[in-house]
Amino acid sequence: MVQAMNEIHILGVETSCDETAAAVIGHDSKILSSVVLSQDKIHAPFGGVVPELASRQHIMSIGYVVEEAMRRAGLCLEEISCFAVTQGPGLIGSLLVGISFMKSLAYYFKKPLISIDHLEAHIQSAFINNNIPFPALALVVSGGHTSIFIMKKKLSYNLIGKTKDDAAGEALDKIAKFLDLGYPGGPVIERLAEKGNPDRFEFSIPYMRDKSLDYSFSGLKTAALQEIKKLHIKKDESSKFYDFIASFEKGVMQALYSNLIKAIEITKPESLILCGGVARNKKLRKGFREIAEEEDLGCFIPSPEFCTDNAVMVAFLALEKYKTNKIKSFPLDLNAYSRRR
Ligand code: KG4
Ligand code: ZN
Repeated sequence: MVQAMNEIHILGVETSCDETAAAVIGHDSKILSSVVLSQDKIHAPFGGVVPELASRQHIMSIGYVVEEAMRRAGLCLEEISCFAVTQGPGLIGSLLVGISFMKSLAYYFKKPLISIDHLEAHIQSAFINNNIPFPALALVVSGGHTSIFIMKKKLSYNLIGKTKDDAAGEALDKIAKFLDLGYPGGPVIERLAEKGNPDRFEFSIPYMRDKSLDYSFSGLKTAALQEIKKLHIKKDESSKFYDFIASFEKGVMQALYSNLIKAIEITKPESLILCGGVARNKKLRKGFREIAEEEDLGCFIPSPEFCTDNAVMVAFLALEKYKTNKIKSFPLDLNAYSRRR
């Protein structure tokens, strides 16, 4: 049964990769709580996410994270009108922890369970407190995904470009791992790049068929690895090291912009959205805003805390779906998917 709108409370859970997150929002999209437990310290020694460790850690954390989100919201589970969980894309073992947990809650409390696509949730985070004009062109840049979507209307996400190999965040993480800079690599590279000259080394933008909006970051990563070996680049205080890091960061961004500009020409949107973990990067945010300004388009980027994985975006998208009344109740056959279908 769908409740009166002013009584709605949605509990969202996100476990698609290495953050265990839960959030509660009210009918007016008011954020009542948001808890994110990062596994960065667990994966850091390996320089990347270890799927087996990630799912084990989600199992250890999920109960605590949900309990804490409920406590901060000042609500009990009986007062939740609808449960929402990330279904995919992501690591299957990790996703299944969140899905199984939320299935049990929905079943026990006899409330609907809404399944949420992780990429759509990232995009939807830009709609928090924003009225975004359509068509909207959205660039999702994270550790697992680099995708372009066109939204012609609310809740309609049409994938028009994606990476054929590595994601942008993955390329940053891998180069950071190779140079022993720490994990996650994106924020470290952003910090170190501040000290370098981004124009010293040239990284060519991957060539794609004329109209293709697909990305490829593995070529850029391989070129960087070859340069590291050829020029004997290592973590030190030399200008060569800092210039290399700044140039590589610039190369990743140039590749992101080039397809974005192509997508703007093809789709002629009214507004641009930038989201996903890499969207925390200040230079990328600035460059993206400049493109929007040049093209005279609205520009929407979530606040940094909602760029990396969180559960507010899950609950927020679920609320929008809940309002449409088109949700299925009790999808106990809900299963995880690793790639967007
Ligand atoms: O969205 P997210 O939390 O997880 C996925 O869905 O993949 O994104 C994580 C990615 C990692 O690759 C991380 O290195 C990158 O976001 N990242 C950044 C920054 N903060 C996080 N990349 C560049 N600059 C940052 N400040
Ligand atoms: Zn994500």
